Amino acid sequence: MERDTDVLLQEERIFYPDEDVIQRALIKNWEEEIRKGKDIEKYWAEKAEQFEWFKKWDQVLDESNKPFYKWFVGGKINLAHNAVDRWVETDKRNQVAILYANERGDERKLTYYELSREVNKFANALRNLGVVKGDRVSMYLPMCPELLISMLACNKIGAIHSVVYSGLSVGAVVERMNDAKAKILITADGTFRRGKVIDLKSITDEAMLQCKTVETVVVVKHTGSPIDISELSGKEIFYDRLIEGEPADCEPEQMDAEDPLFILYTSGSTGKPKGVLHTTAGYMVGAATTMQNVFDIHNGDLYWCTGDIGWITGHSYVIYAPLLLGTTTLVYEGAPDYPDPGAFWHLVEKYGVTKFYTAPTAIRHLMRFGTKYPKRYNLESLKILATVGEPINPEAWMWYYKYIGNEKIPIMDTWWQTETGMHLITPLPCSPLKPGSATKAFPGIEADVVDDQGNPVPLGKGGFLVIKKPWPAMFRTLYGDDERYIETYWKDIPGYYKAGDMARKDEDGYFWIQGRSDDVLKIAGHRIGTAEVESAFVSHPLVVEAAVIGKDDPIKGQVIKAFLILKEEQKLRTGLIEDLKKHVRYELGPVAVLGEIEQVEKLPKTRSGKIMRRVLRAREAGEDLGDTSTLEE
Ligand code: PRX
Repeated sequence: MERDTDVLLQEERIFYPDEDVIQRALIKNWEEEIRKGKDIEKYWAEKAEQFEWFKKWDQVLDESNKPFYKWFVGGKINLAHNAVDRWVETDKRNQVAILYANERGDERKLTYYELSREVNKFANALRNLGVVKGDRVSMYLPMCPELLISMLACNKIGAIHSVVYSGLSVGAVVERMNDAKAKILITADGTFRRGKVIDLKSITDEAMLQCKTVETVVVVKHTGSPIDISELSGKEIFYDRLIEGEPADCEPEQMDAEDPLFILYTSGSTGKPKGVLHTTAGYMVGAATTMQNVFDIHNGDLYWCTGDIGWITGHSYVIYAPLLLGTTTLVYEGAPDYPDPGAFWHLVEKYGVTKFYTAPTAIRHLMRFGTKYPKRYNLESLKILATVGEPINPEAWMWYYKYIGNEKIPIMDTWWQTETGMHLITPLPCSPLKPGSATKAFPGIEADVVDDQGNPVPLGKGGFLVIKKPWPAMFRTLYGDDERYIETYWKDIPGYYKAGDMARKDEDGYFWIQGRSDDVLKIAGHRIGTAEVESAFVSHPLVVEAAVIGKDDPIKGQVIKAFLILKEEQKLRTGLIEDLKKHVRYELGPVAVLGEIEQVEKLPKTRSGKIMRRVLRAREAGEDLGDTSTLEE
């Protein structure tokens, strides 16, 4: 079999940046910038100066009520004003802000001027629907311009958006909408996926039967197929009808620096998704500053992050940071391998993409098809490559470096989370790189690896990844659940933010992320809680009990391995396996990739009845079961 790389999993080399990368770079001296960042208040206050404030802050950081930190206290600002309207007054006015493209080859370009008009019209329309500051507005939309427009429109008027990833299904939509008590839902007829049109509207319709707080459903006609909605019911209205005749200007709401900006749900160790709450000014400062320096953003950049807006990567680095920096962001609705595995590289060439940000799983997937696809395209426009979502294995790193970057372009392996809002551990273009390591904390961030008491562990030894000082884009709480916020992140290791990842630091102080320390799986970079999957299984009429673990997968990183106790007399026949797969997919959406299902008579449990997934994992890996003294039997 042809191998595209002779590099195996061990890669000891250090990769130093080319001279012209350093020449171009906004930050040329990494260590010096890290030193500057030691004075966190001064550092972040300087970064906050880039925005237009209605009123400057009185205090940079308020630590009086830990862990409920506040940033830029007393400041007044509006995100949409800074991300859109501000640029209309500059020579960026007619520059493309959003370049939308899809797998069918359609494209749509919106300049900053045009985007500003669209955002304002929709903001006015939302106000007419009775949306006021602090109301929650949900989106269940594909990657389309209306998603960005409606998020920005919410910011403009101070509404809190809660975007639900369009790959999630009915159960997930209902849970999120009800938790956020959304007043409005914006959805579309469908989305394009590998040559098919996926119907989103029928999922919305089904979800709406269980979402009692939603007063209006706004429907975007996205796919061009005829669609019927029952406008007569008074609850549903087409997006284009709604904005008809709305004025193209709109007074921005003067938001308090600490006013909530958005809620984004993510998986935790329990079955109930966590509503991660981000607030306004600190989020803007953190997202824009990291984007600018990690991706080295200059005028004329054509930036592409392939992440979906339904996740934090898309929030921070498809929409907010790029627009706050006045750059052009490519929004792509399509898969990496459709119509063929050259789809990404085709777009890089077609649009002259300069900065490219994707997930390791996509690279591993594309590697399988060999080098012929990247070789077919001219990728010389690229200046920075980046990854996010899970550790990148050195083999994938090398492939990306060699065949996409032509051994000239640095790879930014960015470690961060829904909760952190911004990159926290990442190289800069001027950093020496070690494949598989996210290198060091971004300037202004203090990260470490500690034991369960909070003491630093010796270099090279694994421990818990913590962040020792607050950072501007940190989440402020879990929506409506301060208790769980403290419990999950701040209690185990007092004083530090516990990220939920295991890591080690090497002799150069580089971080090596080893994976989650909790019962959260990472499937193709998507985060999914074992408890969520288990409850999806148990909601099937023939399943009595379920336990799931992550099983290593060469492409997706992890897939689900499920152990099920079935109703009496039931056997795991092929038909039932298919039915179970369908059921879990219906409950959770395609993110829940099932590897294997195994029928068992019993599950290992503690005496208090908690499933010991550790034992299942060890058994699966053929390892010693470890300390089983707490095992029930
Ligand atoms: O386990 C880490 C992994 O993804 C988790 C966060 O997931 P989520 O909130 O969905 O956000 C993903 C996009 C920011 C982390 O706890 N992770 C993320 N980036 C990396 C990573 N693991 C290793 N290396 C990374 N670069």
